[in-house]
Amino acid sequence: MVNIVVLISGSGTNLQAILDCLPHHRTSTPLPAAPALQLPESVRISGVISNKSNVYGLDRAKQCDPPIPTKVTALKTYLNRNPGSTRQDWELELSRTVNSFQPDLIVLAGFMMILSPTFLNNINAKPIINLHPALPGAFDGAHAIERAFEAYKEGKITKTGCMVHYVIPEVDRGEPIVIADVDILPTDTLDSMETRIHETEWKIIVQGVKKVLNV
Ligand code: GAR
Repeated sequence: MVNIVVLISGSGTNLQAILDCLPHHRTSTPLPAAPALQLPESVRISGVISNKSNVYGLDRAKQCDPPIPTKVTALKTYLNRNPGSTRQDWELELSRTVNSFQPDLIVLAGFMMILSPTFLNNINAKPIINLHPALPGAFDGAHAIERAFEAYKEGKITKTGCMVHYVIPEVDRGEPIVIADVDILPTDTLDSMETRIHETEWKIIVQGVKKVLNV
Protein backbone atom coordinates (compact mmCIF):
# COMPACT_ATOMS: atom_id res chain seq x y z
CA MET A 1 0.00 0.00 0.00
CA VAL A 2 1.00 3.62 -0.57
CA ASN A 3 0.10 5.60 2.55
CA ILE A 4 -0.92 9.25 2.54
CA VAL A 5 -1.18 11.09 5.85
CA VAL A 6 -3.33 14.21 5.71
CA LEU A 7 -3.05 17.10 8.19
CA ILE A 8 -6.06 19.39 8.56
CA SER A 9 -7.38 22.19 10.75
CA GLY A 10 -10.94 22.61 9.51
CA SER A 11 -13.77 21.47 7.30
CA GLY A 12 -11.55 19.18 5.23
CA THR A 13 -13.04 19.75 1.79
CA ASN A 14 -9.59 19.15 0.31
CA LEU A 15 -9.21 15.94 2.30
CA GLN A 16 -12.58 15.05 0.79
CA ALA A 17 -11.33 15.85 -2.72
CA ILE A 18 -8.61 13.21 -2.24
CA LEU A 19 -11.03 10.73 -0.66
CA ASP A 20 -13.41 11.09 -3.60
CA CYS A 21 -10.66 9.87 -5.94
CA LEU A 22 -9.69 6.84 -3.85
CA PRO A 23 -11.44 3.58 -4.73
CA HIS A 24 -10.24 2.08 -1.44
CA HIS A 25 -12.44 4.32 0.77
CA ARG A 26 -16.23 4.57 0.43
CA THR A 27 -17.19 8.01 1.62
CA SER A 28 -20.59 9.28 2.75
CA THR A 29 -19.72 12.98 2.48
CA PRO A 30 -18.58 13.53 -1.16
CA LEU A 31 -18.04 16.95 -2.69
CA PRO A 32 -20.80 18.20 -5.01
CA ALA A 33 -18.62 17.90 -8.12
CA ALA A 34 -17.80 14.42 -9.39
CA PRO A 35 -14.03 13.81 -9.38
CA ALA A 36 -12.34 13.91 -12.76
CA LEU A 37 -9.30 11.95 -11.56
CA GLN A 38 -8.91 8.56 -9.95
CA LEU A 39 -6.09 7.33 -7.74
CA PRO A 40 -5.06 3.67 -7.94
CA GLU A 41 -6.40 0.99 -5.58
CA SER A 42 -2.92 0.78 -4.02
CA VAL A 43 -3.18 4.30 -2.56
CA ARG A 44 -4.94 4.92 0.74
CA ILE A 45 -5.10 7.54 3.46
CA SER A 46 -3.61 5.82 6.49
CA GLY A 47 -4.31 8.64 8.94
CA VAL A 48 -5.82 12.09 9.33
CA ILE A 49 -4.37 14.41 11.94
CA SER A 50 -5.94 17.66 13.09
CA ASN A 51 -4.56 20.31 15.41
CA LYS A 52 -8.16 21.09 16.38
CA SER A 53 -10.80 18.82 17.85
CA ASN A 54 -14.41 19.04 16.67
CA VAL A 55 -13.62 19.93 13.07
CA TYR A 56 -15.71 18.44 10.27
CA GLY A 57 -12.67 17.08 8.47
CA LEU A 58 -12.28 14.53 11.28
CA ASP A 59 -15.90 13.41 10.77
CA ARG A 60 -15.26 12.96 7.06
CA ALA A 61 -12.44 10.51 7.90
CA LYS A 62 -14.39 8.66 10.61
CA GLN A 63 -17.46 8.28 8.40
CA CYS A 64 -15.51 6.53 5.63
CA ASP A 65 -15.90 2.83 5.01
CA PRO A 66 -13.49 1.53 6.19
CA PRO A 67 -13.05 4.40 8.69
CA ILE A 68 -9.75 6.26 8.54
CA PRO A 69 -7.85 6.52 11.85
CA THR A 70 -7.74 10.07 13.18
CA LYS A 71 -5.70 11.83 15.79
CA VAL A 72 -5.96 15.29 17.36
CA THR A 73 -2.71 16.96 18.37
CA ALA A 74 -3.56 20.44 19.62
CA LEU A 75 -0.70 22.72 20.64
CA LYS A 76 -2.43 24.31 23.65
CA THR A 77 -3.64 20.97 25.03
CA TYR A 78 -0.15 19.50 24.61
CA LEU A 79 1.49 22.43 26.45
CA ASN A 80 -1.09 22.26 29.28
CA ARG A 81 -0.67 18.50 29.70
CA ASN A 82 3.13 18.67 29.63
CA PRO A 83 4.23 21.47 31.98
CA GLY A 84 7.54 23.00 30.90
CA SER A 85 7.22 21.73 27.34
CA THR A 86 7.69 23.98 24.30
CA ARG A 87 6.23 24.37 20.84
CA GLN A 88 9.28 22.43 19.56
CA ASP A 89 8.27 19.51 21.79
CA TRP A 90 4.77 19.67 20.30
CA GLU A 91 6.23 19.58 16.78
CA LEU A 92 8.26 16.50 17.73
CA GLU A 93 5.12 14.88 19.13
CA LEU A 94 3.29 15.76 15.91
CA SER A 95 6.09 14.26 13.80
CA ARG A 96 5.92 11.05 15.86
CA THR A 97 2.17 10.88 15.30
CA VAL A 98 2.64 11.39 11.56
CA ASN A 99 5.35 8.70 11.44
CA SER A 100 3.11 6.26 13.33
CA PHE A 101 0.84 6.20 10.25
CA GLN A 102 3.81 5.12 8.09
CA PRO A 103 3.47 7.82 5.46
CA ASP A 104 4.82 7.69 1.93
CA LEU A 105 3.47 11.20 1.42
CA ILE A 106 2.30 13.88 3.85
CA VAL A 107 -0.32 16.33 2.64
CA LEU A 108 -1.07 19.59 4.45
CA ALA A 109 -4.66 20.25 3.38
CA GLY A 110 -5.76 23.39 5.18
CA PHE A 111 -3.37 22.76 8.08
CA MET A 112 -2.99 26.19 9.65
CA MET A 113 0.13 25.72 11.80
CA ILE A 114 3.60 26.70 10.64
CA LEU A 115 5.99 23.75 10.82
CA SER A 116 9.65 24.40 11.58
CA PRO A 117 12.71 22.21 10.85
CA THR A 118 12.03 20.47 14.19
CA PHE A 119 9.04 18.81 12.49
CA LEU A 120 10.41 18.70 8.96
CA ASN A 121 13.66 16.95 9.95
CA ASN A 122 11.83 14.24 11.89
CA ILE A 123 9.57 13.01 9.19
CA ASN A 124 11.68 10.14 7.86
CA ALA A 125 12.59 12.04 4.68
CA LYS A 126 9.14 11.65 3.13
CA PRO A 127 7.78 14.36 0.81
CA ILE A 128 5.52 16.94 2.44
CA ILE A 129 3.24 18.99 0.24
CA ASN A 130 0.97 21.93 1.04
CA LEU A 131 -2.03 23.51 -0.60
CA HIS A 132 -2.03 27.31 -0.62
CA PRO A 133 -4.81 29.54 -1.98
CA ALA A 134 -2.59 32.00 -3.84
CA LEU A 135 -0.10 32.08 -6.69
CA PRO A 136 3.61 31.48 -5.91
CA GLY A 137 5.12 34.40 -4.02
CA ALA A 138 1.90 36.45 -4.11
CA PHE A 139 0.21 36.19 -0.71
CA ASP A 140 2.20 33.94 1.62
CA GLY A 141 0.70 32.97 4.97
CA ALA A 142 -2.78 33.37 6.41
CA HIS A 143 -5.82 35.13 4.86
CA ALA A 144 -4.38 34.86 1.35
CA ILE A 145 -7.81 34.91 -0.32
CA GLU A 146 -8.98 38.05 1.50
CA ARG A 147 -5.69 39.80 0.77
CA ALA A 148 -5.90 38.91 -2.93
CA PHE A 149 -9.45 40.29 -3.14
CA GLU A 150 -8.36 43.55 -1.49
CA ALA A 151 -5.41 43.81 -3.89
CA TYR A 152 -7.78 43.31 -6.85
CA LYS A 153 -10.08 46.08 -5.62
CA GLU A 154 -7.05 48.37 -5.32
CA GLY A 155 -6.10 47.57 -8.94
CA LYS A 156 -2.88 45.81 -7.94
CA ILE A 157 -3.69 42.38 -9.46
CA THR A 158 -6.01 41.09 -12.19
CA LYS A 159 -6.00 37.41 -11.31
CA THR A 160 -5.21 35.12 -8.42
CA GLY A 161 -4.85 31.36 -8.10
CA CYS A 162 -3.77 28.47 -5.95
CA MET A 163 -0.91 26.03 -5.81
CA VAL A 164 0.39 22.78 -4.40
CA HIS A 165 4.04 23.05 -3.38
CA TYR A 166 6.72 21.20 -1.46
CA VAL A 167 7.05 22.33 2.15
CA ILE A 168 10.25 24.04 3.27
CA PRO A 169 10.84 26.12 6.40
CA GLU A 170 9.98 29.37 4.54
CA VAL A 171 6.19 29.55 4.65
CA ASP A 172 4.53 28.90 1.25
CA ARG A 173 7.87 29.28 -0.57
CA GLY A 174 8.68 25.66 -1.49
CA GLU A 175 8.96 24.54 -5.09
CA PRO A 176 5.53 24.56 -6.79
CA ILE A 177 4.17 21.21 -8.01
CA VAL A 178 0.87 22.37 -9.54
CA ILE A 179 -0.15 25.99 -10.13
CA ALA A 180 -3.61 27.09 -11.29
CA ASP A 181 -4.73 30.60 -12.22
CA VAL A 182 -8.15 31.75 -11.04
CA ASP A 183 -9.79 34.71 -12.78
CA ILE A 184 -11.24 37.55 -10.75
CA LEU A 185 -14.38 39.00 -12.35
CA PRO A 186 -15.58 42.61 -11.99
CA THR A 187 -18.86 41.19 -10.62
CA ASP A 188 -17.09 39.07 -7.99
CA THR A 189 -17.72 39.33 -4.28
CA LEU A 190 -15.19 37.89 -1.88
CA ASP A 191 -17.53 34.88 -1.54
CA SER A 192 -17.87 34.20 -5.26
CA MET A 193 -14.12 34.53 -5.84
CA GLU A 194 -13.43 32.28 -2.86
CA THR A 195 -15.82 29.61 -4.15
CA ARG A 196 -13.98 29.57 -7.49
CA ILE A 197 -10.62 29.21 -5.70
CA HIS A 198 -11.89 26.34 -3.55
CA GLU A 199 -13.30 24.45 -6.55
CA THR A 200 -9.92 24.83 -8.24
CA GLU A 201 -8.10 23.65 -5.11
CA TRP A 202 -10.14 20.42 -5.09
CA LYS A 203 -8.69 19.61 -8.51
CA ILE A 204 -5.08 20.62 -7.97
CA ILE A 205 -4.71 18.84 -4.64
CA VAL A 206 -5.41 15.55 -6.40
CA GLN A 207 -3.17 16.49 -9.33
CA GLY A 208 -0.40 17.28 -6.85
CA VAL A 209 -0.79 13.95 -5.06
CA LYS A 210 -0.72 12.07 -8.37
CA LYS A 211 2.35 13.94 -9.55
CA VAL A 212 4.37 13.40 -6.37
CA LEU A 213 3.42 9.72 -6.10
CA ASN A 214 3.92 9.30 -9.84
CA VAL A 215 0.63 7.37 -10.21
C1 GAR B 1 -8.00 25.88 1.79
O1 GAR B 1 -8.48 26.98 1.07
C2 GAR B 1 -6.47 25.91 1.84
O2 GAR B 1 -5.90 26.41 0.68
C3 GAR B 1 -6.26 26.86 2.98
O3 GAR B 1 -7.21 26.47 3.95
C4 GAR B 1 -8.37 26.00 3.28
C5 GAR B 1 -8.77 24.67 3.89
O4 GAR B 1 -10.03 24.26 3.48
N1 GAR B 1 -4.91 26.75 3.48
C6 GAR B 1 -4.13 27.78 3.78
O5 GAR B 1 -4.53 28.93 3.73
C7 GAR B 1 -2.72 27.43 4.22
N2 GAR B 1 -1.87 28.57 4.12
P1 GAR B 1 -10.57 22.80 3.85
O6 GAR B 1 -10.43 22.62 5.36
O7 GAR B 1 -12.03 22.82 3.45
O8 GAR B 1 -9.77 21.81 3.06
